[in-house]
Amino acid sequence: MWKRIYKNRLTSADEAVKNIKSGDRVVIGHACSEPTKLVKAMIDNKEQYEDVEIVHMVAMGKSEYTKPEMRGHFRHNALFVGGSTREAVNQNRADYTPSFFYEIPRLFTDNYLPVDVALIQVSTPDEHGYCSYGLSNDYTKPASECARLVIAEVNDKMPRTLGDNFIHVSNMDYIVENSTELIELNAPKIGDIERAIGENCAALIDDGSTLQLGIGAIPDAVLLFLKDKRDLGIHSEMFSDGVVDLVEAGVITNRNKTIHKGKMVVTFMMGTRRLYNFIDNNPSVELYPVDYVNNPVIIAQNYKMISINSCLEVDLMGQISSESIGLNQFSGTGGQVDYVRGASMAKDGKSIIAIPSTARKGKTSRIVPFLNKGSAVTTSRNDVHYIVTEYGIADLRGKTLRGRAKALINIAHPNFRDELKDEFAKRFK
Ligand code: COA
Repeated sequence: MWKRIYKNRLTSADEAVKNIKSGDRVVIGHACSEPTKLVKAMIDNKEQYEDVEIVHMVAMGKSEYTKPEMRGHFRHNALFVGGSTREAVNQNRADYTPSFFYEIPRLFTDNYLPVDVALIQVSTPDEHGYCSYGLSNDYTKPASECARLVIAEVNDKMPRTLGDNFIHVSNMDYIVENSTELIELNAPKIGDIERAIGENCAALIDDGSTLQLGIGAIPDAVLLFLKDKRDLGIHSEMFSDGVVDLVEAGVITNRNKTIHKGKMVVTFMMGTRRLYNFIDNNPSVELYPVDYVNNPVIIAQNYKMISINSCLEVDLMGQISSESIGLNQFSGTGGQVDYVRGASMAKDGKSIIAIPSTARKGKTSRIVPFLNKGSAVTTSRNDVHYIVTEYGIADLRGKTLRGRAKALINIAHPNFRDELKDEFAKRFK
């Protein structure tokens, strides 16, 4: 039965995207799950559309809909800003919508941003006609469940990942087949500074902890120092290739987790083919929508929950700015606050913000008296717990403003400590 539906709804990418109408809001499948064939067809047919709003979060594709020549055809509404969308957002050719990651599905399902069309990429159907959302469940599944129209790219290279992570072919309006490699995220370079930060973070992680790790060199450096730990678990927005090594080494067992015992719970994944093969049909990995995985109340149920994220600047009160440099939108809120709060609420939980002490090749201190004028506060001074640099660990919880400033100066780069001490003397004389 489902095979007949599949055949009837099968079409070409050019035909499928004709069903997008001017003025529609189109939500694109997230991160490495971006349906590249459908997005390309939409761009190629741009003359058909006026004022189509493209909603996307971590855009790992080319984001051609943000180019100046797309004006009038497409306008991008970014839920996160990255390399391919930053210039457009900061030149006002595109917009940024602030939101906690776990609340993004509500923007769609509760009609703040009603979804006209969901463009998604999924695995091939199983014998019952269910396709897996593969690398991204996050907002992709909730958006496609409330969209007026679902156009699905079925790619035999998409891993069949498990969890609450399937769509039946009868819920797809148009189906386009593809067989090309997925977008990949290569392992970042880990230098001496990242190693020192990783080692400091690892000192805060006890055996039996459950971890959330962000993207990039610092989370990967932390993983390098966990080889002697025992029975770690994963409950994270995402993970990448680094986790596979620790699973294979028997360090990550998920045995001590208080919820989803024995399973790694995530909402999306980015990495290389090695990761994609590891998660394919792997019962130890489960994906759920982000309003479940990143919900602080769910995160908090993990005993010894540890969150590790990064930021651009922290001021002497412990206010964390992670997403903008002044009014310049650099990235987005993402799941940082979801995990800071979840880990704070968890029994024996710890939230860590891990940063190199400087930016711009040592020219700028990330620990500053005042945030840049216009910078957004991502994690408030009330939420912050540990800040880690290559120079050590500052535990800010329960500390006075004076105590926080002192602890932060102690882990600042020595080149900037005098400046910070002068500000301390002025403020607390
Ligand atoms: N002033 C000026 N420039 C700064 C700066 C500052 N305070 N802090 C960083 N920069 C520059 C860096 O020098 C670097 O530029 P360069 O590559 O030209 O040297 C650039 O900004 C990026 O900084 P870096 O620290 O390397 O970024 P990152 O890739 O490690 O990402 C965040 C760090 C904070 C942007 C990222 O973690 C983020 O977006 N966090 C918010 C969302 C989140 O936490 N999600 C949860 C888990 S996924």
